[in-house]
Order: sequence, then structure tokens, then C-alpha cells
Amino acid sequence: MSKFNILFKITGSIAAYKSAYLISKFVQAGCDVKVVATESALKFIGTATLEGLSGNPVYTDSFAPAHVMSHIHLVQWADVTVLAPATANTINKFANGISDSLLTSLFLAHDWSKPYLIAPAMNSKMYSHPATQESIARLKSWGVTILPTEVGYLACGDVGEGKLLNSDLIFDEVMKAYASKNKSVARKKILITYGGTVEDIDGVRFISNMSTGKTGVAIAEELFLSGNMITTLRAKNSVETKFNIESETFSSFEDYRFKIENLLAVKQFDTIIHLAALSDYSPTFLEKDNNAFPLPMQSKLVSDSDNIKILFKKNVKVIDSLKNLSKNPNVIVIGFKLTNQVAESDIPNIIKKMFADSNVDYVVHNDISGRTSSGEQTNFTIYDKSLSTTKCISVLNLAEAIEKITEANNDIVH
Ligand SMILES: Cc1cc2nc3c(=O)[nH]c(=O)nc-3n(C[C@H](O)[C@H](O)[C@H](O)COP(=O)(O)O)c2cc1C
Repeated sequence: MSKFNILFKITGSIAAYKSAYLISKFVQAGCDVKVVATESALKFIGTATLEGLSGNPVYTDSFAPAHVMSHIHLVQWADVTVLAPATANTINKFANGISDSLLTSLFLAHDWSKPYLIAPAMNSKMYSHPATQESIARLKSWGVTILPTEVGYLACGDVGEGKLLNSDLIFDEVMKAYASKNKSVARKKILITYGGTVEDIDGVRFISNMSTGKTGVAIAEELFLSGNMITTLRAKNSVETKFNIESETFSSFEDYRFKIENLLAVKQFDTIIHLAALSDYSPTFLEKDNNAFPLPMQSKLVSDSDNIKILFKKNVKVIDSLKNLSKNPNVIVIGFKLTNQVAESDIPNIIKKMFADSNVDYVVHNDISGRTSSGEQTNFTIYDKSLSTTKCISVLNLAEAIEKITEANNDIVH
């Protein structure tokens, strides 16, 4: 299933080559992309590139055989339309209702319940020209999102305003536009905790774990893009989301415990996805030369002794009490179990034990061997209480499976 459909329009700017990177990025993010280009655009970038990257034919001609109703069908098909780069010529045509090509006809036929984003790219004089500025203002008043341009070196040799916005920022804006459109049908309230705790030893040293938060942020973003209301409680040093997701951070185990208890007391959630990698033991005392120092020490420990000892105290399992702490008694709790060097045959017993010990509804198992060299976790197995399994190769598959679980469960009981 594709994430959503993007109608990607290109006009005749020297920046048209940048559309190749963007199209590829959307396709890699799971979107289905169809490209519409003006005749001028195809003088700057070839159909072979656009077709190859999008996996779809490139539309240019309103009267192409078998495509004569494209100006309507493509509008119906698209979830989001983005025009990047947008020439002064096309912006001015749009603002005046001119419909002399497939690309401009599609704008006149646009369905205003769907986002339309324009990323202008042109010489500074063309950009600041009253015709262009008035057109931009008019398009904005109709509900088009006009992305800013950047100040920089332009192909004509000038330095000034009018440079196409950085492609990664255009990508983020399209994702955000789709997500905020989906907000009106917000489905579930989901809390996602992720990242690893950091237990301070002294002013400069700490003990932590290998959790990066990459899986958590990926799940959070997928569920956010599908229109769910997401709150994250993430480790301070973990990956941040690029979306406007409500977020709190934690550092130590105690900090995490305080924050999650607080969150669950004030907010109702339909689902809690508990990925946070919490320390099972927290350091309490450091023994050095027969002296005991309470931890964390404020200053930096002087390393003049051959041996030191650190005493750890066992922490409670926060996951066990999530349901009890939660305002919503019907909350679905999804826990994660990471294993390392465990025989395949032992895994069902490990999962059974987690169901017995922790009051969870689902357990997602993953093994450290499924982590790529860049730190992305792959190969997850979701277990339900009857131990039936759903395999998910990627985080994207996992997010989709979790979404089905949350959708299938009851709404919050108020
Ligand atoms: C080399 C070259 C680069 C151009 N770059 C731009 C540009 O960045 N922005 C722009 O608005 N027009 C630019 N133009 C002018 C447009 O290509 C021209 O206005 C064309 O009619 C636009 O057609 P379209 O809007 O239908 O694609 C450029 C023209 C040439 C020859």
C-alpha cells in the first residue's frame, strides 16, 4: 500500500534537475508519484529520468491519446499536488486562470480539499516583479501554499532571492501538508516512548545503552502521517522528529518514571507503544579507596585509584504498571523485547514470560542481529496474547501493522 499519492509538477526552470532528487525521495518514502511537466520543463530534464524515478509515465500533453481526461483523473487520484520548481510564467498563468496546457488545466480543475504546494524558482527580478508578487498573493488567498525561496547564487550569476527552497525542506513541507490534512480525521491518541536512559556517574560520565530511538521516531512519524494524534516521550539524546509532534524528553530512569506517570495521569491514550530502553539498574554509590560517594557526583571523578566499584540498585519495571497508571482503562499496551544471542527456540518462552510479567497486549520482538550498519532495526515479529505472530520486515511494515491493531481496538472510554 502506498503512503499517499503525489502529483508532482515541473515547469521550465534551470532548477528542474532538482526535481529528480525529490521524486526519488518521495518514492523511497513509500509514496506513489505521477509527474506532469510542461514542454519547457522537458527541455531541462528528460522524460526517461522522470519516468525511471517515478515508475509512471510522464504527462505533458492534454490531448495525448488515451489521456484526454487526465486533467480530471489526475486531480482525483492525487492526495497532494506539488509544483517544484515553479516558473514565474506558470505562477502568473495560474493566478489569471489560464489553462493552456495539461499542467495549467490541472490547476483550474484542482480539488481544494487537497493540499497544493508551490515552490518558486527564478531570478530575483522575476521574483520581485509586481506581476509575480501579486500572483503569489492571489494564489495564497485561494489556499495554495507558496513555499519560500532561498537567497543564494542564481544560475544567471546574480546572488539574491528566488533560489528554489532546499529539496529536503520541500519534502518535509509536503509531508506536513498531507499530515495536517489528515488531522481533520484524527483517529487515535497514541503515546510512543523511545530512546535509552542515561544514568549519570559524575559531571562528565554516564552509563547508557545502544538505543538510538530510530525505530520509535519512524513509527511515530508513520502513525502521525496517517492522521493519528501522537505524543512522544523520548530520550534527550535520541532522534528528533521533523514533524510537529507533541513531545517530552527524559534522561534518567527516575526522570522517565516521573514523566510517564505524569503524562498518563493527565492525558488519555488509546494506545501506548513502549519502546523506551530503560536501565534495569541505576547507579547509587561509588566506592573508592574505602570511601562511598552517592551518585551522581557533581564534579568529575579523579582517576587516581586502581579500582573503583559502583553499586547499582534494581529499578521497577515501569511497563508492568502502564495500564494501571493510565486514565483510559481500555488502553492497548504494546511492549518491545530486544534479544541478543538467544536461540530461536527460546524466543517463544521469553515472549510468554513478558506477557506473564507485564500487563501488555502485544509484544514486538526484534533481535540485535536485525540492526543495519547505520543503526536501523529490521525484522520485527508482533506477538499477541495467544502467541500468534505477524512478521514485519521493516519499520514501515511494523508501523502499518501497529496501526491496524490500534484501529481495531475500542475508542477511549470517557
Ligand atoms: C536556461 C533557462 C533557464 C530558465 N530558468 C528559469 C527559472 O529558473 N525560472 C523561471 O521562472 N523561468 C526560467 N526560464 C524561463 C522559462 O523557461 C520560460 O518562461 C518558459 O516559458 C516557462 O514555461 P513553463 O512555465 O510553461 O514551464 C528559463 C529559461 C531558460 C532558457
